[in-house]
Amino acid sequence: MKILITGSAGFIGFHLSMKLLSENHKIIGLDDLNSYYNTNYKKKRLSILKKFKNFSFLKEDLSKEKNLYEKIKNIDVIFHLAAQPGVRYSIINPKVYIKNNINSFINILEFARNQNVKKLFYASSSSVYGNTNKFPTKENNKLNPLSIYASTKVHNEEYAKQYTNHYGLKTIGLRFFTVYGELGRPDMFLYKYLGSLKKKQKFNLNFNGNYKRDFTYIKDAVEIMNILLKKKLKSNYNIFNICSSKPVSLNKVISILDNFIKRPKIIYKNKNNLDSLKTYGDNRLVKKITGFKKFTLLKTGLQNTVKNYFELKLK
Ligand SMILES: NC(=O)c1ccc[n+]([C@@H]2O[C@H](COP(=O)([O-])OP(=O)(O)OC[C@H]3O[C@@H](n4cnc5c(N)ncnc54)[C@H](O)[C@@H]3O)[C@@H](O)[C@H]2O)c1
Repeated sequence: MKILITGSAGFIGFHLSMKLLSENHKIIGLDDLNSYYNTNYKKKRLSILKKFKNFSFLKEDLSKEKNLYEKIKNIDVIFHLAAQPGVRYSIINPKVYIKNNINSFINILEFARNQNVKKLFYASSSSVYGNTNKFPTKENNKLNPLSIYASTKVHNEEYAKQYTNHYGLKTIGLRFFTVYGELGRPDMFLYKYLGSLKKKQKFNLNFNGNYKRDFTYIKDAVEIMNILLKKKLKSNYNIFNICSSKPVSLNKVISILDNFIKRPKIIYKNKNNLDSLKTYGDNRLVKKITGFKKFTLLKTGLQNTVKNYFELKLK
């Protein structure tokens, strides 16, 4: 298949591109390589992808649609993973979330409609659930976004539903829960923690380490996407939780990391009202549809991530 992967220099887009290249698909990667976090991560991922003959790359800003139609033709499926991530940054710079998560999303929907794309997968987020007392959160739970970032993801799901209803576009929203792994995002908890250790800096641990997160290993997430790509789904509008369904506290993660590395100096901090206290998704629906059941143990995933982090050579 000929597949467009937006955000292919990003963490999830990179791993998905690697997986689908190994399955002999033709991949067109697209990314604007913005500097929200250290661009050396994006350049490193891209340099690995560019070694594959079935991979081609376009540096484009999706919020400006003008170039898409000329440069990208005959696409079977889109995985739209490009976005401005990060809950905290959305309070500092809300407009960039509208540009990268709303305007870009409409452009991709229009592109998919006009080019008769068969399926559009797109990234949503566990943050759409916000705080709740009902766990594990099911796909049909009431949504309660706590940040502009989370709101943009709720809007993406709403717009996707309209494009399914009015134009028959097959859409598959993927609500990712704290995806971690090799070449991960340096703005997320795990990489910040490893970075503090490497640079001998203090590490700020919010909510005294009591946040619980449904950590999901990247290789499990991309395997699920690969299976979903092959499935004939009954509905044209789909939403799936992509999670291991095993929430653990940040303190527990730190105690597992103690098996492999020393601790940086930890500064205990209060909670932040933008953060959900706990994420714990119900993954029965995606397990039923894909048959994927063997999620990687957190200890194994963390060990792989730590090894990769300390071996990694960025410019
Ligand atoms: N990693 C997680 O745990 C997680 C959890 C929930 C949701 N998500 C969602 O999954 C998707 C992928 O996340 P990630 O962790 O790989 O993030 P990432 O930041 O590593 O990747 C996103 C990529 O999109 C690119 N991008 C942003 N705006 C663009 C634009 N206008 N045009 C072209 N490219 C643009 C960025 O340069 C970046 O490389 C995002 O939509 C994110 O919101 C991720």
